[in-house]
Amino acid sequence: MRFPVARRPNDPWPAAVGSVGRDRALARVRRRLGMVAALVAAPLAAADEPQRWLGASSCASVGCHAAAEAGHAPWQSALTTWITRDPHAAAARALEGALAERIVAAIALRDGAPQPPATSHHACIACHAPAPAAWARDGVSCEQCHGPAGEWVVAHTLPGWKTPGNAAGMVDLADPATCARTCTPCHVGAPPRSDGATFEVSHDLVAAGHPRLAFELRSFKQGQPPHWRDRVALAAAGTIPADSVDPLGEWATGRVVALEAYLDQVARQAGAGAGPEGVAGTWPELAAFDCYGCHRQALSVVDRGQPVAPSRGRVRLQPAAWALLAETVPGAAPELLQLRDGIERDWWRAPDARRVRGAVETLATATRLSGDAAATRGLAERAVAATDAATWDEAVVALSLLEALLDHQRARGAPAERTAAAAAALVDVRRVLAFESTGTGAARVRANSPRGHDPSAVRGALAAAAARLAELGN
Ligand code: HEC
Ligand code: HEC
Ligand code: HEC
Ligand code: HEC
Repeated sequence: MRFPVARRPNDPWPAAVGSVGRDRALARVRRRLGMVAALVAAPLAAADEPQRWLGASSCASVGCHAAAEAGHAPWQSALTTWITRDPHAAAARALEGALAERIVAAIALRDGAPQPPATSHHACIACHAPAPAAWARDGVSCEQCHGPAGEWVVAHTLPGWKTPGNAAGMVDLADPATCARTCTPCHVGAPPRSDGATFEVSHDLVAAGHPRLAFELRSFKQGQPPHWRDRVALAAAGTIPADSVDPLGEWATGRVVALEAYLDQVARQAGAGAGPEGVAGTWPELAAFDCYGCHRQALSVVDRGQPVAPSRGRVRLQPAAWALLAETVPGAAPELLQLRDGIERDWWRAPDARRVRGAVETLATATRLSGDAAATRGLAERAVAATDAATWDEAVVALSLLEALLDHQRARGAPAERTAAAAAALVDVRRVLAFESTGTGAARVRANSPRGHDPSAVRGALAAAAARLAELGN
């Protein structure tokens, strides 16, 4: 069956806004954001009633973050990048399309009751329109990731400001664990908000056409058009010290935080936290399982129907969450894999939520892969050998590790002529993995679903890439 696909509305800006068009462009940003001009001049006017949320408009000055992209540093054009190219700026508008309507209709059918529209539905707004009502149509904007700006918007423009941890509430997104914890509520799941709005994309929602969720920190950061400095490139150029950048540590931290969020969600689905914490007792929640354990054809929003998975005859938990665990947290992997195998064996029975939560604690304190020499020796080949290429999700996780390894080499100054063969081999892996693309606008690629899957081609491409990386002497 085919579902209608939500078409992204035309971008409000042309792709390149030169400095000539800047004023006009800024005026359009202001109109788009429904900006109250006074807000920029006096963001903290109501001092006795601290305004924690200011809205994206308060970042929208040409001298701050709304410069044109050409000729400016990424931080100067952050808002321009976000509003023209970042899917988060369209997150609220996604609730206005035909696909959203279809998803809510499926909820109505399930619950047998009339439902509010998606734009105000408690099952949608926490992730798609989380800002206070005045800015809800901004979608996922600056403050959702960087923290409510009321207390730091002035301070962060003063000389001497550096992101001092979480001082004044600005979130330190350069720290991988903090960054991953910022993304996972919306990209994996989280307990409901105090007003009852939920962070869960259940099988009911994906069966109605919602894209499934599968999160990997580094590829999702790359999937957002970056509005930040490329630290790997800076380290490669010697601008910042090589050892201040650890792509492998970032990869491992992203894996761990995503698995923690996944397990936490499983514990809730298994019945923990009934009551205010919500979603209790929906086990087996099929979204926690390997989609292609049951489905044999591509399930992506756009490119449905291609054969994807060989017959397996076994229900497994999401490989996207579990793949390469032994490479990620070598010490803790056996205990965690035992838990996983136990859940899979009796998959129709709700797992013991306390054991699942215990695993979250084990993970949080486990020693992770980092970029030190002992850990990286032979890593590419070990990882590929541990990957079941017949499982698309596992192959995607392996790709993300190989990409981190290549960045590890680059950051440590391996010259482009030495890394070129490995880089080309990784492009090849991407090609055979057949990521879904929406085919609209700026060739957006979805990192979570395949258009099709040819296991032997994927196996060959991964092995070739691992061999090229090994030549670099990890
Ligand atoms: C847990 C957070 C979360 C919840 C809850 C959620 N979504 Fe989403 N939604 C996402 C994410 C993340 C994506 C993008 C997924 C991807 O492509 O990897 C998305 C994508 C979509 C898309 C496709 C947008 C596009 O541009 O292709 C639509 C439509 C959508 N959601 C509608 C809804 C509706 C309607 C609801 C409520 C019934 C809802 N979502 C609930 C997180 C959520
Ligand atoms: C979906 C999350 C998200 C949203 C929305 C978002 N950012 Fe960011 N931003 C990030 C991440 C992640 C980083 C840091 C990445 C890193 O340092 O590795 C970042 C970094 C930055 C930086 C630092 C750049 C640098 O080179 O150090 C600035 C400035 C910034 N963002 C401004 C904004 C503004 C302004 C908006 C709204 C228009 C915005 N961001 C929206 C995630 C987000
Ligand atoms: C244990 C088996 C099982 C797992 C695991 C599972 N599904 Fe399903 N899925 C079903 C069944 C049975 C139906 C038909 C009934 C329904 O709609 O719930 C279905 C229906 C669907 C449909 C609508 C029908 C279609 O083929 O277009 C989609 C889309 C879908 N599932 C996607 C997913 C995704 C994405 C995942 C992984 C996050 C997943 N499923 C995991 C069993 C499963
Ligand atoms: C408040 C919820 C929220 C947070 C926080 C959030 N996202 Fe998203 N993200 C979404 C939604 C909703 C979408 C889908 C938007 C659409 O397509 O309309 C999305 C889409 C994306 C996409 C595009 C996915 C695709 O397949 O097209 C990427 C990449 C992404 N997010 C990365 C990140 C990263 C990295 C972070 C953390 C730094 C992050 N997001 C934080 C809600 C969120």
